[in-house]
Amino acid sequence: MVKIKIFIDSSKIQEIKKAKEFGILDGVTTNPSLIKAAVEDIKAGGGGVDIIQYIKEILRVAEGVPVSLEVIGTKYDEMVEEGIKLFKMFNPVARNVYIKIPINPSTGDEDGNDFDGLKAIKSLSDEKIPINCTLIFTPEQALLAAKAGASFVSPFVGRIDDYIRSLNSIGFKKPDHFPFYGLEKDGDILEDDGIISGVDLVAQTREIFDNFNINDTKVLAASIRNPQQVREVALAGADIATLPFNVLEKLLMHTKTREGMISFIEDVVPEYKKIFKE
Ligand code: E4P
Repeated sequence: MVKIKIFIDSSKIQEIKKAKEFGILDGVTTNPSLIKAAVEDIKAGGGGVDIIQYIKEILRVAEGVPVSLEVIGTKYDEMVEEGIKLFKMFNPVARNVYIKIPINPSTGDEDGNDFDGLKAIKSLSDEKIPINCTLIFTPEQALLAAKAGASFVSPFVGRIDDYIRSLNSIGFKKPDHFPFYGLEKDGDILEDDGIISGVDLVAQTREIFDNFNINDTKVLAASIRNPQQVREVALAGADIATLPFNVLEKLLMHTKTREGMISFIEDVVPEYKKIFKE
């Protein structure tokens, strides 16, 4: 039994269906931005969206594996109410709903709600609603989410890499690989508060969880941008990696694999081919 799980980070039904057909799909993560992308695609094709039916369809396609659905509120009461609403409305469809709660819902425009995500995780977990805690950028955020009862914590690998590059005025494109061992500038390893890369964030979270035998909360590496990061978060001990469809597709690509296929096909002798014709 392969322990690391592969989720698809998408709200597009066609992508989720294809990933399921590959036979290795262990879950689905959505968020408001991914739902926006799916809705915009449908509208661009001239279609309309009944979002409740659309989400139910995602849940049916993904039957048997967890699907994360995110709240939109930023206050404790709103998040608990929305979490319960999402769970009651959608979990009966295929019994696979996890509620996504931000670790800190503050947008900076409001005061005093920094701990509302944590409180909501505790309350919803106490109600036996499984939680995926999102927007994790430090191991200590992950630790608190685990203590509050989250089933998954989602460190955002790519976005911490983006942040370290932005802080240091380093240009980049979204799929660019950021080395797990960090980037050096003027002789110093660049960091954000002791974190030198997104993969390092996953590794440090793993180490802390292992130190304290935290087994009921799984480390779900999110915001993954390229196949190298999939390998690196697997090496770092992530329990789960959630991948955009384009990254999932790239996992199997290698020039030498293709070259090997071409030569195997060319080398088939008629005697061997005959086996398959009889
Ligand atoms: C978590 O919800 C995701 O991994 C999310 O899609 C973030 O990915 P991005 O940083 O590539 O946008």
